[in-house]
Amino acid sequence: MEKSSRSWSATWRERIRALQNIPPLLSIVWESGPGVVVGGLSARIIAALSPLAILWITKRILDAIQGHFSGRPLPQGFWWLVAAEFGIAAISAMLTRSVAFFDALLADRFTRHVSIRVMGHASRLDLASYEDPVFYDKLERARVQATDRIYMIQAMGLLLQQFITAASLSAAVLAFSPWLMALLVAAVVPAFLGESHFAFLGYTQNIRQTPIKRQLDYLRTVGASKESAKELKLFALSDYLSGEYTRLSNQIYDQNVRLARRRLWAGLGLALLSTAGYYGAYTYVIYRTVIGALTWGSLQFLAGSIAGASTNIQSIFSTFASIADQSLFLTDLVEFFKVGPVVRSKPGALLAPRPIRDGFQFDQVTFQYPGTQRAVLDRLDLRIEPGERIALIGENGQGKTTLVKLITRLYDPTGGRILLDGVDLREYSIEDLQKQISVIFQDFMRYEMTARQNIAVGNLEAARDGAVQRAAGKSLAEGVIERLPNGYEQLLGRRFEGGVDLSGGEWQKIALARAYLREAQLLILDEPTAALDARSEYEVFQRFADLTTGKTALLISHRFSTVRMADRIVVLENGQIAEQGSHDHLMALGGRYAGMFELQASSYR
Ligand SMILES: Nc1ncnc2c1ncn2[C@@H]1O[C@H](COP(=O)(O)OP(=O)(O)OP(=O)(O)O)[C@@H](O)[C@H]1O
Ligand SMILES: [Mg+2]
Repeated sequence: MEKSSRSWSATWRERIRALQNIPPLLSIVWESGPGVVVGGLSARIIAALSPLAILWITKRILDAIQGHFSGRPLPQGFWWLVAAEFGIAAISAMLTRSVAFFDALLADRFTRHVSIRVMGHASRLDLASYEDPVFYDKLERARVQATDRIYMIQAMGLLLQQFITAASLSAAVLAFSPWLMALLVAAVVPAFLGESHFAFLGYTQNIRQTPIKRQLDYLRTVGASKESAKELKLFALSDYLSGEYTRLSNQIYDQNVRLARRRLWAGLGLALLSTAGYYGAYTYVIYRTVIGALTWGSLQFLAGSIAGASTNIQSIFSTFASIADQSLFLTDLVEFFKVGPVVRSKPGALLAPRPIRDGFQFDQVTFQYPGTQRAVLDRLDLRIEPGERIALIGENGQGKTTLVKLITRLYDPTGGRILLDGVDLREYSIEDLQKQISVIFQDFMRYEMTARQNIAVGNLEAARDGAVQRAAGKSLAEGVIERLPNGYEQLLGRRFEGGVDLSGGEWQKIALARAYLREAQLLILDEPTAALDARSEYEVFQRFADLTTGKTALLISHRFSTVRMADRIVVLENGQIAEQGSHDHLMALGGRYAGMFELQASSYR
């Protein structure tokens, strides 16, 4: 009991804290279209007052008719009252349409504005953030906020409207009898508490279910995607996957059913209470009319005001509860915007040297991925001279790609430092440093855009016509593109209609063109030729020697035919450099390199 009362107050605190998310949301809404916001609000405010106006005119009409039956003449301008009521009803119908119009415009603008802000912010975050599942959940939730919170914004407009209507009608009821008003409010409050309590339970349940929902998403993707189709068929995985899907989604379904059932019963009881409150007040007014204390007009006016006030107050509470509920979801969006990158440029950061004179120097560099224990790099020392072509080799998982992530500052070392021309990398502006480096990762992107765009993304500023073609020529992508039906304008990938898919090696040639277009001082290719056929690989490296003159190049490869061409070969093992030197030197040494080389060579003999 004690525990549940504490959690009760804790949940309320959390709910109230979530309301603090509303001001930042309002400022985003405002930014996305001030004119539309003002238009929508004005329409709502005027529309909010029309119920009272109509009730009041109807009362005047009924009183006049009652007087007429008791022998008094109809008051002057009686028919104008009828016309006025029609006028108000017409205007209010128009306003309802305008509200819908402004809501629709605002929804579009808000979605666009939030999506752009989320994308912009996401691009500034650390790579590490994306590899942290907790953060990734948050990002996923923040991303859907863009479209899912539209209802909440409309609800806030609606809340204002309901509030004004309820206040104006309540004032009328209050003027008649404060007791009636108190009765109405007392009947509505429990319903509000119930509503918001269940809304909150729904939210916490949703959060708890996120990891499962992510698994479901994954299963859905694997179960129906181009990448997985081949294995799915050949390993006959489909039944296994749909079985898993059913098992997991049943868990979620059962939890949801339990909550919905509780909500149903509690909601029924509370709704009955509110209805009883309304009819209590209504009966009192009828009684007063029957004993002659009220005119027909007043009966109609009060009954209308009580009904209107009661439904609007109820709606205020439920609208508010839904806003409070949704504002809990905003926590993800607001917190997402609060997370900043850890790896970032210092104020007053240096520009990267042009040209690089001294090269890169790893100085006792140690690195552990966040949340892991193992030092992938362990007090590693390595020099990369300007103009040198280095091949980095090592077995799977020895940290080759990791080393590239450190040079490019996707991560910072956890120990030691990396110097560029004698200055710690952390002193340089990240953007400027990254401009000097051109990297094609093992898992390079295949943009489902045109061939030209796929190359141009390597250097959007320099992507004028001739430059893209030249880069394609250097990487052998030219031959691939010539065979495409639409040449450079051919859409690649099969996601969109008219797209053409490429083979692994063809994609790789396109990615290489991207690297050449960049014209950076340091070129890093992580397994650049893994998918290339023997002839293409040979040609790529024939050219590679010419193309990289005057540049520093770091090549990562498991193919010794490629590796041999480097000025220096560096063997990475257990987070350190096991051997380094030229091919001949390392062969003469008879150590690890010689062993690996022999192993690979023997399979060709
Ligand atoms: N994001 C990550 N989070 C945690 N550990 C990681 C992450 N990326 C890589 N690792 C671990 O770091 C080690 C080195 O990985 P890395 O990708 O640098 O290897 P590699 O030498 O490039 O291997 P390969 O030849 O297979 O490409 C691996 O054991 C891997 O499990
Ligand atoms: Mg790798």
